[in-house]
Parts: sequence; structure tokens; C-alpha cells
Amino acid sequence: MVYDTRIMKADGEAVAEAARLLKSGEVVAIPTETVYGLAANAFDENAVGRIFQAKGRPQDNPLIVHISRLEMLYDLAAEIPDYALKCAEVFWSGPLTMIFPKTDKVPYVTSGGLDTVGVRFPASAAARAIIDACGFPLAAPSANLSGSPSPTSAMHVYDDLKGRIPCIIDGGSCAVGVESTVIAFEEDGVRLLRPGFISAEELEDVVGKVYIDKGVTSQLPENIKAASPGMKYKHYSPKADITIFRGSADEYREYAKTLGKDLWCMVFDDGDMNGLDLPHICYGKTSEEQAKLLFDTLRELDKRGAKKVLARCPDTNGVGLAVYNRLLRAAAFRVVGNDE
Ligand code: TXA
Ligand code: MG
Repeated sequence: MVYDTRIMKADGEAVAEAARLLKSGEVVAIPTETVYGLAANAFDENAVGRIFQAKGRPQDNPLIVHISRLEMLYDLAAEIPDYALKCAEVFWSGPLTMIFPKTDKVPYVTSGGLDTVGVRFPASAAARAIIDACGFPLAAPSANLSGSPSPTSAMHVYDDLKGRIPCIIDGGSCAVGVESTVIAFEEDGVRLLRPGFISAEELEDVVGKVYIDKGVTSQLPENIKAASPGMKYKHYSPKADITIFRGSADEYREYAKTLGKDLWCMVFDDGDMNGLDLPHICYGKTSEEQAKLLFDTLRELDKRGAKKVLARCPDTNGVGLAVYNRLLRAAAFRVVGNDE
């Protein structure tokens, strides 16, 4: 089926139209504070099947289910540890996804065949209004074609999914810019499966112990089962070959000079290019700016025809860990420069 994809500004009419489509078993791209999501009724196997089809997503990669009231969690999660309620109190609504054992109401299509389900209560007013209008929770992965950078604007969604979905609700550019933090519960704390805007440091303050999963900063061997299946797939990959350079601005410039004229520089700000005569793109000085600009920058590099890119390595504290985690995947784990 080929759709004439509409983009609607996120007003009352758009919310009603999104809910109408979603109730009829369609998929709709919706804004959230992290990235745009491709939503469908989480309880409807056929509707959820359409998400996988539109994105070209592997069937065993589970979807996050979005709610707009805490009560909705009890339809989805069979067990809710005390830690989870504590996290909900502090971090919801917001960019935190928690993994629970799932109830029978959640179809295996939604959970990617797992007995668990990831649940998130988005802060975005538009997302919450749409879930409220539907009256059921929405399964929604990021609204990009599988493998490409997540979309942080309605235009990014359109570039990837035009003709494949009926409607995109345009809520402007996403405030956070990287996907939610994903955690699972352990006896004595939580395991960080995917870093996001809610940092490991902030989680530690609430739950005490935070274990950072191996897959966050390293490539999992083929034979290891990923705790978060999404981590094993090729991700966020622009067409350009990206390499991350770890080191000072001076060292970065010295190294970049050795790589030839067709190199694109992905730097923090114009100052990094001091005396370096190569095309460049800035992705922000603070971790928050970098989170917001990273995916747009990766898409922009493709638009400008970049083939070879050298990126300055982000700081890995706080939300910086999320930026590093995504950039590492975009760079297929190629890192050069200093070791520490
Ligand atoms: O911010 C976000 O989380 C966005 C917006 C739309 O809410 N959604 C998003 O979904 O990023 P997606 O599908 O692109 O990424 C979901 C990640 C994947 O890495 C997936 O493997 C993991 O969460 N995940 C989902 N359910 C899981 C589960 N039951 N167990 C382990 N990992 C799970
Ligand atoms: Mg995604």
C-alpha cells in the first residue's frame, strides 16, 4: 500500500485525526520529547505488525510501549518492583523506559517475542494528548527506517517514511534529541541497557546501584545474547564512513590534516577548525547540545555528500554517555587517538 503521507501541525484537530487513524489500526508518526515515534495500538497485533513493515525492522527487536497515566502501567507490567515506582515518581513523565515482565495482554509481536515489555511515560504534551484520545497505550519505536539515524523533526520522518505511512504529527524539533534511557531491574539496583537524557548518575541517586551493560560502550560479540536486542543491530548509520577521534583540538587538527581533502570534520564548534581548511559541521559544545544536534548532524552529512568523516569524541559523563553510545554505533565502533 502506498500512502499520500500528510504532515499535520500538532493541534487539537491533529490529535483527533491521529487518534481516529490509530483506533482504526493504522500507524501514525508522533512527536515526543526524545525523538519522533512510529505509533500503533500496543494491544493490536496487526497494527503493530504495520510498524515493523513500515520501518523494515527485524521482528525480534521489541518495541517500547507509551502510556499517559500511571494506571495504564498495570495493564502492561505483571510485576512492578518498588524501585520502579520510585523511578516513576522521580523521572516520569520523561525520557526513561523501564523493562517489566509483561502481562498476557501485551502481544508477542509488541515485545519482539520476549516475556518482558519496555514502558515509557513521555513528557511531550502532544504525545500524551494522542494516547489519552486513543484510550490505549501506543507501541512506538523511533520513526526512522531501520538502521538510519533517529528522526528529531517531522521532515526527518518524512524523508524516511513518505508513502509508507498515512500521517505525521508535527510537534517541531525534539527537545532532547536522543532516545530514552532504558533500564531493567536487578535484585539490588538497575541495569542501564541504553543511556539517554536521564543519566546513570541521576539514576544512582534514586536506586543506589546502577550497572552499565557491556553493550553500552562496546561491540557485543555475535554469539552473545543482547540484553537490549536493539543494541546488536547496525544503527544510526549515515552513508558516510565515520571515525571518532579521541584527543585535544590540536591533536584532532594534526590528525585530520593527514587524511586528505575529501574529509569532513564533525567538530564541537568553529574554533576547533582553527587554520584547518576542510569542510566541517558543528554538533555542539555541551553534552545537551550534542544530544539535540547529533542525529540532525548525521543526516546533514549525508545530504552534503560527505563520504569520510572524522568526529571529535564527546565527553562521556551525564547525557554525554548517550551521545557517545549513538556516535559509536554510527561510526561502527571505529575510534582512534588517545586511549583514556
Ligand atoms: O525515546 C524513545 O525511547 C523513543 C521514543 C519514540 O519514545 N523510542 C525508541 O524506540 O527509541 P526504539 O524501538 O527505537 O528503541 C527501543 C530500544 C531498543 O534498543 C530495544 O531493543 C529496547 O529499547 N527494548 C524495548 N523493549 C525491550 C525489552 N522488553 N527488553 C529489552 N530491551 C528492550
Ligand atoms: Mg530506534
